[in-house]
Amino acid sequence: MNYKQLIENIDKERMPKHIAIIMDGNGRWADAQNTNRINGHKQGVLAVRRIVETAVEAGLEYLTVYAFSTENWRRSKKEVNYLLKLIMDSLVKEIDDLIANNVIIRFIGSKEELEKNYNKKVLNTCKSSWKNTGLHLNVAMNYGGRRELIDAFKLMSDDIISGKISKNLINDEMISNYLYTAYMPDPDLIIRTSGEERLSNFLVWQSAYSEFWFTKTLWPDFSRQEFIQSILDFQERKRRFGSR
Ligand code: IPE
Ligand code: IPE
Ligand code: MG
Repeated sequence: MNYKQLIENIDKERMPKHIAIIMDGNGRWADAQNTNRINGHKQGVLAVRRIVETAVEAGLEYLTVYAFSTENWRRSKKEVNYLLKLIMDSLVKEIDDLIANNVIIRFIGSKEELEKNYNKKVLNTCKSSWKNTGLHLNVAMNYGGRRELIDAFKLMSDDIISGKISKNLINDEMISNYLYTAYMPDPDLIIRTSGEERLSNFLVWQSAYSEFWFTKTLWPDFSRQEFIQSILDFQERKRRFGSR
Protein backbone atom coordinates (compact mmCIF):
# COMPACT_ATOMS: atom_id res chain seq x y z
CA MET A 1 0.00 0.00 0.00
CA ASN A 2 1.44 3.41 -0.78
CA TYR A 3 1.91 5.80 2.10
CA LYS A 4 -0.87 8.18 1.02
CA GLN A 5 -3.37 5.33 1.32
CA LEU A 6 -1.89 4.45 4.72
CA ILE A 7 -2.33 8.06 5.89
CA GLU A 8 -6.06 7.66 5.16
CA ASN A 9 -6.15 4.90 7.80
CA ILE A 10 -4.94 7.21 10.57
CA ASP A 11 -7.56 7.98 13.18
CA LYS A 12 -7.29 11.77 13.36
CA GLU A 13 -8.85 11.77 16.82
CA ARG A 14 -6.02 9.61 18.17
CA MET A 15 -3.12 11.20 16.38
CA PRO A 16 0.05 11.34 18.53
CA LYS A 17 0.83 15.00 19.16
CA HIS A 18 4.57 14.55 19.42
CA ILE A 19 6.80 11.95 17.79
CA ALA A 20 10.52 11.80 18.56
CA ILE A 21 12.98 9.80 16.48
CA ILE A 22 16.36 8.31 17.34
CA MET A 23 17.76 8.15 13.82
CA ASP A 24 20.26 5.34 14.12
CA GLY A 25 22.13 3.08 11.71
CA ASN A 26 23.82 5.40 9.21
CA GLY A 27 27.20 3.79 9.84
CA ARG A 28 25.91 0.25 9.45
CA TRP A 29 24.06 1.26 6.30
CA ALA A 30 27.37 2.55 4.90
CA ASP A 31 29.17 -0.66 5.93
CA ALA A 32 26.58 -2.74 4.12
CA GLN A 33 27.09 -0.64 0.98
CA ASN A 34 30.88 -0.91 1.27
CA THR A 35 31.19 2.83 1.51
CA ASN A 36 32.41 5.15 4.26
CA ARG A 37 30.30 6.31 7.20
CA ILE A 38 30.11 9.80 5.79
CA ASN A 39 28.02 8.55 2.87
CA GLY A 40 25.74 6.91 5.40
CA HIS A 41 25.15 10.27 7.07
CA LYS A 42 24.53 11.92 3.70
CA GLN A 43 21.91 9.31 2.91
CA GLY A 44 20.47 9.83 6.38
CA VAL A 45 19.73 13.47 5.55
CA LEU A 46 17.54 12.35 2.64
CA ALA A 47 15.59 10.19 5.07
CA VAL A 48 15.05 13.20 7.37
CA ARG A 49 13.65 15.17 4.46
CA ARG A 50 11.30 12.35 3.54
CA ILE A 51 10.03 11.89 7.08
CA VAL A 52 9.54 15.62 7.72
CA GLU A 53 7.48 15.86 4.52
CA THR A 54 5.42 12.86 5.56
CA ALA A 55 4.90 14.28 9.05
CA VAL A 56 3.55 17.49 7.48
CA GLU A 57 1.23 15.47 5.23
CA ALA A 58 0.00 13.42 8.19
CA GLY A 59 -0.78 16.61 10.12
CA LEU A 60 1.63 15.92 12.99
CA GLU A 61 2.10 18.79 15.48
CA TYR A 62 5.58 18.06 16.91
CA LEU A 63 8.50 16.09 15.49
CA THR A 64 11.83 15.88 17.32
CA VAL A 65 14.82 14.34 15.57
CA TYR A 66 17.98 13.30 17.39
CA ALA A 67 20.77 14.58 15.17
CA PHE A 68 23.82 14.73 17.46
CA SER A 69 24.15 13.69 21.08
CA THR A 70 26.39 15.05 23.83
CA GLU A 71 28.13 11.64 23.65
CA ASN A 72 28.71 11.75 19.90
CA TRP A 73 31.83 13.89 20.56
CA ARG A 74 33.48 10.54 21.38
CA ARG A 75 33.67 9.75 17.66
CA SER A 76 36.65 10.59 15.48
CA LYS A 77 37.29 14.27 14.92
CA LYS A 78 36.77 13.76 11.23
CA GLU A 79 33.33 12.22 11.67
CA VAL A 80 32.25 14.81 14.26
CA ASN A 81 33.30 17.73 12.07
CA TYR A 82 31.65 16.21 9.05
CA LEU A 83 28.40 15.51 10.87
CA LEU A 84 28.12 18.98 12.38
CA LYS A 85 28.82 20.60 9.03
CA LEU A 86 26.39 18.28 7.24
CA ILE A 87 23.57 19.11 9.67
CA MET A 88 24.09 22.85 9.25
CA ASP A 89 24.59 22.70 5.45
CA SER A 90 21.44 20.61 5.06
CA LEU A 91 19.46 23.17 7.02
CA VAL A 92 20.87 26.01 4.91
CA LYS A 93 19.69 24.09 1.85
CA GLU A 94 16.27 23.07 3.17
CA ILE A 95 15.25 25.98 5.34
CA ASP A 96 13.40 28.01 2.71
CA ASP A 97 11.36 24.97 1.75
CA LEU A 98 10.62 24.25 5.41
CA ILE A 99 9.42 27.83 5.93
CA ALA A 100 7.30 27.64 2.77
CA ASN A 101 5.71 24.51 4.24
CA ASN A 102 4.69 26.43 7.38
CA VAL A 103 7.20 24.51 9.58
CA ILE A 104 8.41 25.99 12.86
CA ILE A 105 12.07 25.08 13.47
CA ARG A 106 13.90 24.98 16.78
CA PHE A 107 17.18 23.58 17.99
CA ILE A 108 17.18 21.78 21.29
CA GLY A 109 20.42 20.94 23.04
CA SER A 110 23.37 22.71 24.52
CA LYS A 111 24.80 25.58 22.51
CA GLU A 112 27.95 25.56 24.64
CA GLU A 113 30.41 23.68 22.40
CA LEU A 114 28.71 24.79 19.23
CA GLU A 115 28.74 28.58 19.09
CA LYS A 116 30.85 28.68 15.96
CA ASN A 117 28.96 25.87 14.23
CA TYR A 118 25.66 27.68 14.10
CA ASN A 119 25.13 29.39 10.82
CA LYS A 120 23.74 32.93 11.39
CA LYS A 121 21.36 32.71 8.46
CA VAL A 122 19.94 29.45 9.80
CA LEU A 123 19.48 30.88 13.30
CA ASN A 124 17.76 34.02 11.97
CA THR A 125 15.56 32.05 9.61
CA CYS A 126 14.60 29.72 12.45
CA LYS A 127 13.48 32.73 14.45
CA SER A 128 11.40 33.94 11.52
CA SER A 129 9.77 30.49 11.35
CA TRP A 130 8.33 30.90 14.84
CA LYS A 131 5.37 32.80 13.41
CA ASN A 132 4.42 29.74 11.33
CA THR A 133 1.54 27.55 12.40
CA GLY A 134 2.38 24.09 11.00
CA LEU A 135 4.65 21.29 12.20
CA HIS A 136 7.04 22.09 15.07
CA LEU A 137 10.34 20.53 14.03
CA ASN A 138 12.91 20.22 16.82
CA VAL A 139 16.44 19.38 15.79
CA ALA A 140 18.25 17.87 18.79
CA MET A 141 21.81 19.02 18.34
CA ASN A 142 24.47 18.48 21.00
CA TYR A 143 21.53 17.18 22.98
CA GLY A 144 21.74 15.03 26.09
CA GLY A 145 18.84 14.38 28.43
CA ARG A 146 21.05 14.55 31.49
CA ARG A 147 22.73 17.74 30.31
CA GLU A 148 19.26 19.21 29.79
CA LEU A 149 18.35 18.37 33.39
CA ILE A 150 21.63 19.82 34.68
CA ASP A 151 20.95 23.04 32.74
CA ALA A 152 17.41 23.14 34.11
CA PHE A 153 18.56 22.63 37.72
CA LYS A 154 21.05 25.46 37.34
CA LEU A 155 18.40 27.84 36.00
CA MET A 156 15.96 26.78 38.70
CA SER A 157 18.41 27.25 41.52
CA ASP A 158 19.25 30.75 40.21
CA ASP A 159 15.53 31.54 40.23
CA ILE A 160 15.10 30.15 43.74
CA ILE A 161 18.05 32.14 45.07
CA SER A 162 16.80 35.34 43.43
CA GLY A 163 13.32 34.71 44.86
CA LYS A 164 11.64 34.44 41.45
CA ILE A 165 10.23 31.04 42.35
CA SER A 166 9.70 29.25 45.62
CA LYS A 167 11.12 25.77 46.22
CA ASN A 168 7.70 24.66 47.47
CA LEU A 169 6.20 25.27 44.03
CA ILE A 170 8.48 22.82 42.23
CA ASN A 171 6.37 20.21 40.48
CA ASP A 172 6.37 18.18 37.24
CA GLU A 173 5.06 21.03 35.17
CA MET A 174 7.58 23.53 36.48
CA ILE A 175 10.50 21.20 35.79
CA SER A 176 9.18 20.54 32.27
CA ASN A 177 9.09 24.25 31.63
CA TYR A 178 12.77 24.67 32.53
CA LEU A 179 13.79 22.14 29.88
CA TYR A 180 14.79 22.86 26.27
CA THR A 181 11.35 21.49 25.35
CA ALA A 182 9.51 23.99 27.58
CA TYR A 183 5.81 24.31 26.78
CA MET A 184 5.85 21.39 24.34
CA PRO A 185 3.87 18.21 24.95
CA ASP A 186 5.92 15.15 25.98
CA PRO A 187 6.60 12.71 23.14
CA ASP A 188 3.72 10.25 22.79
CA LEU A 189 5.79 8.01 20.56
CA ILE A 190 9.54 7.44 20.36
CA ILE A 191 10.84 5.64 17.28
CA ARG A 192 14.31 4.11 17.10
CA THR A 193 15.72 2.57 13.93
CA SER A 194 18.60 0.10 13.43
CA GLY A 195 17.51 -2.58 15.90
CA GLU A 196 18.97 -0.93 19.01
CA GLU A 197 16.46 -0.70 21.83
CA ARG A 198 17.73 2.01 24.15
CA LEU A 199 17.23 5.69 24.83
CA SER A 200 20.89 6.79 24.54
CA ASN A 201 20.25 9.87 26.71
CA PHE A 202 17.35 11.13 24.58
CA LEU A 203 14.44 12.98 26.26
CA VAL A 204 15.12 11.37 29.63
CA TRP A 205 12.53 13.36 31.61
CA GLN A 206 9.99 13.70 28.80
CA SER A 207 9.82 9.99 27.94
CA ALA A 208 8.38 8.90 31.30
CA TYR A 209 5.15 7.71 29.62
CA SER A 210 6.13 7.53 25.96
CA GLU A 211 5.29 4.56 23.79
CA PHE A 212 8.31 3.01 22.04
CA TRP A 213 8.46 1.69 18.51
CA PHE A 214 11.57 -0.13 17.34
CA THR A 215 12.52 -1.31 13.87
CA LYS A 216 15.54 -3.11 12.48
CA THR A 217 15.49 -0.81 9.43
CA LEU A 218 18.61 1.34 9.24
CA TRP A 219 17.85 5.06 9.27
CA PRO A 220 18.79 5.78 5.61
CA ASP A 221 16.26 3.10 4.54
CA PHE A 222 13.44 4.30 6.82
CA SER A 223 10.44 4.78 4.57
CA ARG A 224 7.33 6.96 4.60
CA GLN A 225 5.26 3.77 4.88
CA GLU A 226 7.12 2.60 7.95
CA PHE A 227 6.70 5.98 9.58
CA ILE A 228 2.95 5.92 9.02
CA GLN A 229 2.86 2.30 10.19
CA SER A 230 4.43 3.40 13.50
CA ILE A 231 1.54 5.85 13.96
CA LEU A 232 -1.04 3.18 13.10
CA ASP A 233 0.57 0.77 15.61
CA PHE A 234 0.64 3.54 18.24
CA GLN A 235 -3.10 3.94 17.77
CA GLU A 236 -3.61 0.28 18.71
CA ARG A 237 -1.81 0.71 22.05
CA LYS A 238 -3.64 1.14 25.31
CA ARG A 239 -1.97 3.82 27.39
CA ARG A 240 -2.84 3.53 31.03
CA PHE A 241 -0.68 6.13 32.78
CA GLY A 242 -0.81 4.04 35.92
CA SER A 243 -4.56 3.61 36.02
CA ARG A 244 -6.13 0.20 35.49
C1 IPE B 1 23.10 7.68 13.48
O1 IPE B 1 23.86 6.73 12.84
C2 IPE B 1 23.61 9.07 13.28
C3 IPE B 1 24.18 9.69 14.47
C4 IPE B 1 24.40 9.13 15.63
C5 IPE B 1 24.56 11.07 14.31
P1 IPE B 1 25.20 6.12 13.47
O2 IPE B 1 26.34 6.94 12.96
O3 IPE B 1 25.10 6.01 14.93
O4 IPE B 1 25.21 4.70 12.78
P2 IPE B 1 25.64 3.32 13.42
O5 IPE B 1 24.91 3.17 14.70
O6 IPE B 1 27.12 3.38 13.60
O7 IPE B 1 25.23 2.30 12.40
C1 IPE C 1 22.01 8.03 19.35
O1 IPE C 1 22.69 7.16 18.50
C2 IPE C 1 22.30 9.45 18.97
C3 IPE C 1 21.70 9.92 17.72
C4 IPE C 1 20.90 9.25 16.94
C5 IPE C 1 22.06 11.28 17.36
P1 IPE C 1 24.12 6.56 18.88
O2 IPE C 1 24.49 5.69 17.74
O3 IPE C 1 25.04 7.65 19.22
O4 IPE C 1 23.77 5.73 20.19
P2 IPE C 1 24.54 4.51 20.89
O5 IPE C 1 25.96 4.95 21.08
O6 IPE C 1 24.46 3.34 19.97
O7 IPE C 1 23.81 4.28 22.17
MG1 MG D 1 24.50 4.52 16.18
